[in-house]
Amino acid sequence: MTAFDLVIRNGTVATAGDVGAADVGVRDGRVVALGEGLARGAKEIDARGRLVLPGGVDSHCHIEQKSSGGLMTADDFHSGTLSAACGATTTVIPFACQHRGQSLRAVVEDYHRLAAEKAVIDYAFHLIVSDPTPQVLGQELPSLIRDGYTSFKIYMTYDVLKLDDRQVLDILGVAKTEGAIVMIHAENNDVIAWLSERLLAAGKIAPKYHAQAHVAPAEREATHRAITLAEVVDVPILIVHVSGAEAIEQIRWAQGKGLKIFAETCPQYLFLTAADMDKPGLEGAKFMCSPPPRDAANQEHVWRGLTTGVFHVFSSDHAPYRYDGTGKLAKGEGTTFKNVANGVPGLELRLPLLFSEGFGRGRFDLSRFVALAATNAAKLYGLYPRKGTIAVGADADIAIWDPERRVNVTAAMLHDNVGYTPYEGRALTGWPVTVLSRGEIVVDEGRVSAARGRGKYQTCGVPGPLAKAFA
Ligand code: URP
Ligand code: ZN
Ligand code: ZN
Repeated sequence: MTAFDLVIRNGTVATAGDVGAADVGVRDGRVVALGEGLARGAKEIDARGRLVLPGGVDSHCHIEQKSSGGLMTADDFHSGTLSAACGATTTVIPFACQHRGQSLRAVVEDYHRLAAEKAVIDYAFHLIVSDPTPQVLGQELPSLIRDGYTSFKIYMTYDVLKLDDRQVLDILGVAKTEGAIVMIHAENNDVIAWLSERLLAAGKIAPKYHAQAHVAPAEREATHRAITLAEVVDVPILIVHVSGAEAIEQIRWAQGKGLKIFAETCPQYLFLTAADMDKPGLEGAKFMCSPPPRDAANQEHVWRGLTTGVFHVFSSDHAPYRYDGTGKLAKGEGTTFKNVANGVPGLELRLPLLFSEGFGRGRFDLSRFVALAATNAAKLYGLYPRKGTIAVGADADIAIWDPERRVNVTAAMLHDNVGYTPYEGRALTGWPVTVLSRGEIVVDEGRVSAARGRGKYQTCGVPGPLAKAFA
């Protein structure tokens, strides 16, 4: 009888707080010991020369979700979670998305059914609230929050999802009373609609005009308004997918005032620019998301925001649509930028991109990488310390990285169902070679051995910003 089911030996273990040499002992899917010279395990992994990091937590991804335009994402809970695991992510928090007229409770039950039979790694859910009826505000939302759905996203744009300021205040009020955190997509809908109309009337229909409709001031204004509404209600919020300097300035200003404003950014704002949408034909549609990628100067502002702590989480905002008639080109070859499904894929490459170009290029240290990859999201959404760290008692969700491995990104090497990647051809250094979920090896040297449906639902506790001790 051995003390451990598994020992990961000789590696460098990093958490958001520490980096050091240690063996990791795993039993019954959890970390039970950390230290030098642990006794033999029934199974052993030699991690010499490797980094032993917490599996990532991707806290913003759209999986098996219908878009505002009624299109189903290319990834279901099987391909989405498999792809996440191959990129070192071991927990995802996608959305249970309410469309208008739907009961929130029924929506949640539907997503559970889909995920339970397909997910290969663990998952929680945020809600998307698009129809805050008296029934939703007074009954469904409070009871769902009490059941552990403690975070929800709302939109200030997209005609069929957006809430007006009064509705945003109502939602923030429920979050305050019940103890939840609201994630806000902040863009000024009227500015975007007005600019879009003028562009279309002038025959400017190509994907590149998406960036000219979703201008940075529209994001800046809505970010400031969201902050103001949160200040009035006195409740923490998180601004999702921040694209550049203008919104960052508002967030930094609010944080400087002592408001509990949290912020998220995504790979597309570090690695893509609006110029990517200016490709022949409709090719630019592959890079369309909202808010859009900006320019090189804004990319640098986003990097700085990651290194200085303006941003707490780094999520993929994986919103996968194929470049064909099932996705980006659903409205045919003559489509306008207004009719292209918004979103880019990123579940699998989120962490390799951040590792290579953030930690690898010396922009930040390994502990900050871990914080951005996993720990902060787990804390923010009430999954810590079960998820997001390597510590005695935590789930053994672990990614073993080869920091030297060079990889040239191609769509063909990825495991999602998208068929293209916006990061095609990028040369990365550092790759997750072995990934464990609750102590089980689910990916090893490119071989995937995760059974469909093995992923478990994780109930979220009190969001970190509402808990007493939140670092
Ligand atoms: O363009 C994006 N980001 N699409 C996904 C939906 C959203 O707003 O996050
Ligand atoms: Zn959004
Ligand atoms: Zn999103």
